Amino acid sequence: MNPMPETLTIKRPDDWHLHLRDGDVLLAVLPYTTRCFARAVVMPNLHPAITTVAAAQSYRERICAAAGTRRFTPLMTLYLNDQFDVAQVKLAKASRIVHAVKLYPKGIATAGQPGVSAIERCYPVFDAMQEHDLPLLVHAEVTDVSVDIFDREGAFIDRSLEPLVRNFPGLRVVVEHISTLEAVRFVEAASSKVAATVTPQHMLLNRNSLFEGGLRPHHYCIPVLKREEHRLAVLAAATSGNPKFFLGTDSAPHLKRLKETACGCAGAFTANSAIALYAQAFEQANALHQLEGFASFHGPDFYGLPRNEDSITLARKPWTVPVEIPVGQGESIVPFRAGHELAWQLME
Ligand code: NCD
Ligand code: ZN
Ligand code: ZN
Repeated sequence: MNPMPETLTIKRPDDWHLHLRDGDVLLAVLPYTTRCFARAVVMPNLHPAITTVAAAQSYRERICAAAGTRRFTPLMTLYLNDQFDVAQVKLAKASRIVHAVKLYPKGIATAGQPGVSAIERCYPVFDAMQEHDLPLLVHAEVTDVSVDIFDREGAFIDRSLEPLVRNFPGLRVVVEHISTLEAVRFVEAASSKVAATVTPQHMLLNRNSLFEGGLRPHHYCIPVLKREEHRLAVLAAATSGNPKFFLGTDSAPHLKRLKETACGCAGAFTANSAIALYAQAFEQANALHQLEGFASFHGPDFYGLPRNEDSITLARKPWTVPVEIPVGQGESIVPFRAGHELAWQLME
């Protein structure tokens, strides 16, 4: 019988989907990411959104200033919208700091942000992205209120993603934070140009956890958690060793008072426990040996970037997720699984 491993050393991972925000929140959350990850794909949904290479450049400088002496490479993205300037695609590719364009359908979560109203309108942008080989990252949910919220990912795949990959077979596409069996099947069946990121919460929790003994705002993120059969499909895909699936935490910090309120924001802050959460999920699937590929190899391989050379070590050493993380003067963020014990711990 194989004894359970007590430590696990893997090449240093990267986070291929991360929200860092700005100002005090950026300062508060960034150290949790840099402690574990060498690089992260930084989402552009700020206020105002990052829609130009120039804006991405100055946001990148703020992130690097916040990182100080810690070694960290932010991989910047641009926010696509109906007015998006096609010329930005070529500039982005030439910049070497912008690595993708992010598509949010209009009306998804973050109020007051532009988003894309009809994906076909962006076809000239996709043409340029295909030509310059700049990946498209997709929040794959319809915002049509007549579609049940649990079906919005599947509906987006049928209505928009399937035609998109058919019309742009050379475009690299990442289906972000997949949450359903439909998304798993779509990505598996698509060409090698199509991949997906997977969050720890979609591997570990199903929709019952939204209502566990009461309403749980810290389990609310989008895409919303799904039924157990979907969680199992996402878990199986991520732990299978298939290089189309890789780590993207979607760590999405919101202040405690904006989560614990009558109309709370969507997003789970996982940056401080992400690798421990993933280890737990992989162990649950008897696939700890696949964690390194998912966390450290599949992402850079898809993006055409070198793999990291140094390593991290996890130990089976239970720790308790803090109940709050302080932000600026008197604000705080409640991390995902706050107050819960996790079995794996990232060692310094
Ligand atoms: C994200 C955020 O807060 O920016 N929230 C979330 O629930 N995932 C937005 C997003 O990733 O779509
Ligand atoms: Zn999203
Ligand atoms: Zn996100």
